[in-house]
Amino acid sequence: MNTQAINILAIESSCDETSAAVIRDGRVLSNTVATQQVHERYGGVVPELASRAHMQNIIPVVDAAIKDAGIDKHHFSAVAFTQSPGLIGSLLVGACFAKGFAQAMHIPLIAVHHMQAHVLAHFIEQQPEFPFLCLTVSGGHTQIVLCRDYLDMEVLGETIDDAAGEAFDKVAKMLGLPYPGGPLVDKLAAQGDPLRFKFPMSEMKDYEYSFSGIKTSVLYFLHAQKKIDPAFVEKNINDVCASVQHTIIKMLMAKLEKAAKALDIKHIGIAGGVSANSGLRRAIKEAGEKNGWQVYIPRFEYCTDNAAMIGITGYYKFLKGAFADLSVSASARATWE
Ligand code: KG4
Ligand code: ZN
Repeated sequence: MNTQAINILAIESSCDETSAAVIRDGRVLSNTVATQQVHERYGGVVPELASRAHMQNIIPVVDAAIKDAGIDKHHFSAVAFTQSPGLIGSLLVGACFAKGFAQAMHIPLIAVHHMQAHVLAHFIEQQPEFPFLCLTVSGGHTQIVLCRDYLDMEVLGETIDDAAGEAFDKVAKMLGLPYPGGPLVDKLAAQGDPLRFKFPMSEMKDYEYSFSGIKTSVLYFLHAQKKIDPAFVEKNINDVCASVQHTIIKMLMAKLEKAAKALDIKHIGIAGGVSANSGLRRAIKEAGEKNGWQVYIPRFEYCTDNAAMIGITGYYKFLKGAFADLSVSASARATWE
């Protein structure tokens, strides 16, 4: 085996996915994800249940990632983990495991910012040129990020209330769909008419977003329609999903196009769980053709939460010697580096 290789063990546990990955010299050798089903019946992530499930999953998931990679656990150069932002109990499980592993193996510890990792997921299989503009859309965040270098990022604007993924999930819940509703809305929208129902677009300043308005307008709309016809949802669910998805994507793309134009950047990507949405993937490709952009879209498994993106971020931090000491603690909220 090549003893000069940089082997990173990466851990992600910020929300409801327990994931571990092994990255060698910036390439993914394994990426194991255990999705927690326990939240489905509650219509959202229950933090205490998430922490407990991480406790149960962490050892088997890490073990599987190490075995899949075919690596000896003594050959790691460093261990990287999601330090923030996320659910504090969930983050603590990953942080404690990573600290223990670092200490036991006498290797450095690398603390990773989850949102920075979503952006760097692009560099797992591609090499976007800098400056690179990334629309990061997840269950907790919606941000337009200017990426000057691997670890030199600036949030140009973000949502002032709900995240885009949250809007998808909340509308899905109103329609009686289980959590997480985003992928189901996407699926039903494929068979619906996106122009059938009109929902208002929020008008925010600069590169800010707001998604609480569309959520409320869908709620009132459904109340009114159900009064007229109690079977309204059943009969029209595809068109409602298509129309809501269409409106959310229009809002997301308008600000992204505005930022790309103002900064004259042609290398544009989408990242985070909502970038798995087929409508958004299509919309950015179309915008790319119209505006002459080079468009970057991560593979599905690197859109939603995964440890491979923590590992690639860990790799770039390793190259810079950006290590954390054992006193580092997990943090629910994070200031952007
Ligand atoms: O990045 P992620 O896995 O976790 C967070 O960091 O939040 O994103 C999860 C979010 C959820 O809101 C989920 O409904 C949404 O991404 N999502 C989707 C799709 N796949 C996942 N939303 C719309 N369409 C999809 N295909
Ligand atoms: Zn995420």
